[in-house]
Amino acid sequence: MSDLEAARIESEAQRLFKKLGVMTDFKTGGKYSLEHCRSIAPLTLKINDLKREKDAVILAHYYCTPDIVYGVADFKGDSYALAKKAAQTGQKNIIFCGVYFMAQTAKIVNPDKNVFLPPVTAGCSLADGIDAEEAAKLKAGYPQAALVCYINSTAEVKAFCDVCVTSSNVYDIVSALPNKQIVFVPDLFMAENIRAELKRRGIEKEVLSFGSTCCVHDKYTVRDIEEIKSAHPNAKIISHPECPRSVCEMSDYCGSTAGMLSYVKGSDAEEFAVFSEDGIVNSLELENPSKTFYPVSRTCAQMKRNTLNNVLGVLENLDKAPRVEVSRDIALKAKISIDNMFKMAGK
Ligand code: 13P
Ligand code: SF4
Repeated sequence: MSDLEAARIESEAQRLFKKLGVMTDFKTGGKYSLEHCRSIAPLTLKINDLKREKDAVILAHYYCTPDIVYGVADFKGDSYALAKKAAQTGQKNIIFCGVYFMAQTAKIVNPDKNVFLPPVTAGCSLADGIDAEEAAKLKAGYPQAALVCYINSTAEVKAFCDVCVTSSNVYDIVSALPNKQIVFVPDLFMAENIRAELKRRGIEKEVLSFGSTCCVHDKYTVRDIEEIKSAHPNAKIISHPECPRSVCEMSDYCGSTAGMLSYVKGSDAEEFAVFSEDGIVNSLELENPSKTFYPVSRTCAQMKRNTLNNVLGVLENLDKAPRVEVSRDIALKAKISIDNMFKMAGK
């Protein structure tokens, strides 16, 4: 290796360490080391070079590992921000570091672009919670209702829905719908949180729900909160609305990934217990160096299937790598529910 190349790798390692060095490595429990950053620097450099060469953009959900989110992603975000960003990118090739329904959404809003999901089959227990046949039955069975789908659903399910929502806009969109009856799929816990929020707002609607739960957030319990409160009585509890209602009820703040980030930033508190995926803890650590976080550690194994190696694999074989495809008919119908979300979310 030439001196020049060695210096370039060292400078990339230092860039990575500035960010990753403050973050918890959930595999070891310690912080990411400079040695670790040195070991991944050749890969992140190669990916960032190839990205420019091949007219590619990398979008990454906060739940991916920090080497992806802070090493190679051009844009990071929660589900809503990434869906919006996917609709605005100029590059021909979109590499989506997330799970399948997210990459499908990027394809639906960009039918003429190539969309790649590096782990190809990375799934989600929520999106698996309802299929198109069940969605069709709900649509036919509740003709007066608005069929509202959480973005964590397949394109085939979205095709039957009136409007799609994410955790960052669900309450406002459901509140604004004219229908008195809402059929919400597929997050059963989110549905409970919607009912509670509508009650709090004094809005009368019947919310029926079908589907499943997030296999990461559904494991949190009231006991977890009690334990963390007894160990860290001053910690604010923050949670995601995919958690059980009992957990959200006891939280100081319950909201979307972006919502948690802004709550912590704006809070005077110094300690926080985080009832959400490990990836968000890493971003909180980076953005709030003076605050302390107590992760109640839960990992989305599917999100963690995005690796520097499989991102590089896609970039090196753009012509042959499997692309995310959605049939034209399904994409056109699903896009209506996504566009309705963009219109109703208004930002
Ligand atoms: P948000 O990104 O909308 O907060 O949702 C979290 C999640 O579980 C994504 O799969
Ligand atoms: Fe799906 Fe839950 Fe993983 Fe998000 S965290 S991708 S909702 S399984």
